[in-house]
Amino acid sequence: MLTAAGSGTRLGRDLPKALVEVGGLPMITHAARGLVRSGAVDALVVTAPPGRSAEMRAAVGPLDVDVRVVDGGATRQASVAAGLALAGPDVDVVLVHDAARPFAPPALVERVVAAVRGGHRAVVPGLPVTDTIKRVLPASPGGDATPDGRPAGEPVVERVVDTPDRGVLRAVQTPQGFERELLQRAHADGTARAAAEHLAATDDAGLVEALGQPVHVVAGDPAALKITTEADLARAALLVDERAGGTMTALPRTGVGVDVHAFAPDGTERELWLGGLRWPGERGLAGHSDADVAAHAAADALFNAAGIGDLGAHFGTSEPEWAGASGAALLAEAARRVRAAGFEIGNVGVQVIGNRPRLGPRRTEAEAVLSEAAGAPVSLSATTADGLGLTGRGEGVAAIATAVVAPRP
Ligand code: CTP
Ligand code: MG
Repeated sequence: MLTAAGSGTRLGRDLPKALVEVGGLPMITHAARGLVRSGAVDALVVTAPPGRSAEMRAAVGPLDVDVRVVDGGATRQASVAAGLALAGPDVDVVLVHDAARPFAPPALVERVVAAVRGGHRAVVPGLPVTDTIKRVLPASPGGDATPDGRPAGEPVVERVVDTPDRGVLRAVQTPQGFERELLQRAHADGTARAAAEHLAATDDAGLVEALGQPVHVVAGDPAALKITTEADLARAALLVDERAGGTMTALPRTGVGVDVHAFAPDGTERELWLGGLRWPGERGLAGHSDADVAAHAAADALFNAAGIGDLGAHFGTSEPEWAGASGAALLAEAARRVRAAGFEIGNVGVQVIGNRPRLGPRRTEAEAVLSEAAGAPVSLSATTADGLGLTGRGEGVAAIATAVVAPRP
């Protein structure tokens, strides 16, 4: 049986939790497939929120086993009882599994079934706990849990009753497995508790324990994690992604970019712009743009890393509005486009090659301007070219840049 009749209040979507997608499929689909893949399940009963059974049936999808959907009740316990009513005398073992644990591995399902078939009439998967667990008195303002004299409106402080030995505690999961007859008896015995959330059993084994019957634990599996909040959903999405080969955790990508400008001819009034800074008193570089080779190389490296073309393709003749833009503005827009294409930016490294200007004194200033533009760390260094080539002969300035980006999950 798959319990899926909850509304998912803590997840806070406008869908029942079991219909919320993770890794492109509703949780109920993953959960149902996992149970069937174990080979241990002959028939499936799904509890659905009243009025949502058709949707739930559709989401379960075609399976090799008989599927029936029933309306759940006000509590999980009531929902399981409703599903259990469909299990006739021909059924000897019942598994109860929460759709909220969509990734319980088939091996876990098999382990539980094998233990029941091996003579343990009620079996739960459990994991050791890593936190120290304390039992507390329920917090009630003005009640036993509240220190004397505390003004109303302060945070409620609970009082610790005791600290159970962590070594004997287990965090239990689903599927839980039972002899059908025992589970039906346990639910019949606990009917009175089923209607009220604060009385109802949160797992089926608890009802068997209430009968005084033994319950046994087999090893659980961290992959059977329960999805309650958005954070759990994000964790589960990563898990699906890892199983699928990991596009979310894909390797980062590097890119490279180069830009070169010659100095403006003698006698031309031209300011030098480099690294997002104006360099008063230095000879300017020729070009239609501000000829900021550092910013341009950085922007090109970003495009290259993302695999979305280059500076010319983005800011060329097709987009004349960028013709007069500063290097820093181009870098900022390039970073925006790279992010819009689905990437996070790691960092950009730029090396300026040229005899002039001497970058050292203003290196950190330039880094700050470029980093601000890119929205990510941009580091800057400089070198000369041993007197060789355009830059070495002092005819111009070049820059080479690398960038690291990563596909956003
Ligand atoms: N469940 C159910 N019937 C209910 C309540 C819960 O079948 N009346 C099921 C849920 O669909 C879920 C499992 O029991 O698969 C565990 O419950 P929980 O994680 O608490 O889910 P929700 O009750 O849906 O979530 P919330 O408590 O945040 O509303
Ligand atoms: Mg609930």
